[in-house]
Amino acid sequence: MKIAEMKSAEMKSAEKKVALITGGSRGIGAAIVKRFKEDGWMIATCATHESHLDRSIADFKFKCDVADVHAVQSGINQVLKCFGRIDVLINNSGLAGSNSMEASSTDESWHRIIDVNLHGVYYMCKYVSPHLPDGSGKIINIASVLALKGVPDQTAYCAAKHGVLGFTRAFSGYLAPRKITVNAVCPGWVRTEMAQGRMQDLGITEKDFEVTVPLGRFVEPEEVADVVSYLASSPGSAMITGQAITIDGGTLA
Ligand SMILES: NC(=O)c1ccc[n+]([C@@H]2O[C@H](COP(=O)([O-])OP(=O)(O)OC[C@H]3O[C@@H](n4cnc5c(N)ncnc54)[C@H](OP(=O)(O)O)[C@@H]3O)[C@@H](O)[C@H]2O)c1
Repeated sequence: MKIAEMKSAEMKSAEKKVALITGGSRGIGAAIVKRFKEDGWMIATCATHESHLDRSIADFKFKCDVADVHAVQSGINQVLKCFGRIDVLINNSGLAGSNSMEASSTDESWHRIIDVNLHGVYYMCKYVSPHLPDGSGKIINIASVLALKGVPDQTAYCAAKHGVLGFTRAFSGYLAPRKITVNAVCPGWVRTEMAQGRMQDLGITEKDFEVTVPLGRFVEPEEVADVVSYLASSPGSAMITGQAITIDGGTLA
C-alpha cells in the first residue's frame, strides 16, 4: 500500500511527538487527526477501507483491522519503523449495529461487534503500551454513553463499550507505576456516518433525536477531539486516569 507520505528517515528525525489514532479516516477519528495536526503532533492512523484512508491528512496511514492481532502487531511495527516512537495511543476505531437476540438468529454480528470494539482496544493497548514513554505516555479509548447505560437492540455494542470502560479502569492501575494515564471518552450521539446509520435503523430524524438531549443538539466530532486533545496534552490532565469523561449534552445527567 503506497500510503506513507514521508520517508522513514525524515519521520524518525522529526522531534515531534507521535500519536497513533485508530479509525482516523472519517468521523470522530478524522476530527481527532485534524486537531492533533493543528496541535503539532506527527500522526499515524489506520482503518480497513483504503479509499477513505487515502484522503486522511495523517502522516502515516496503514490498512489494519484492529480485530486482527497480526495486523495490529504489524501496523505497530510499521509505525515504530517510521517514527521511532509512539507517545499517545487513541483507540477510536469502532463498529455500531444492532444484533438480534432471537434464538433463530446467527451469532455473527455479536462476535464482530465485540471483536472490533473490545478486542481491538485490548490488542492495541497490549502491544503499544510497552513502547509508550514512562512519565508522559497516554492512552485514550473512545467508548460511548453506552459504556454506562443499556439499549435493548444493541446488546453487543453495549457489552463491548462497557468492557472498554472496565478495561480502561483496570489498565489504568496496571500502567500507573509507569506514570502513564489511561482514560475513556464517552460521547453521546455525535454527528457522523455512524449516527446517520443509527437514525436510519430507528427511522428517526435529527430533530426527533435532538429533543431528547437537554442541551438540544448533536455533539460535533470537533468537540470530542477537543477533549481528547486536553487528555493528551494539557498539564491539567496529568492526574486524570481510569476515568470515563462523558460528552453527551446532559443526556445521562
Ligand atoms: N457517532 C456517534 O454517535 C458515537 C457515539 C459514541 C461513541 N462513538 C464511538 O466513536 C468512535 C468513532 O465513531 P464514528 O462515529 O466516528 O464512526 P464512523 O464514522 O463509522 O468511523 C469509524 C472509524 O473506525 C474505522 N473502523 C471501523 N472498523 C474498523 C476495524 N475493524 N479496524 C480498524 N478501523 C475500523 C472506520 O474505518 P473503516 O470503516 O475504513 O475501517 C472509521 O475510520 C467509535 O469507537 C464509536 O463507537 C460514536
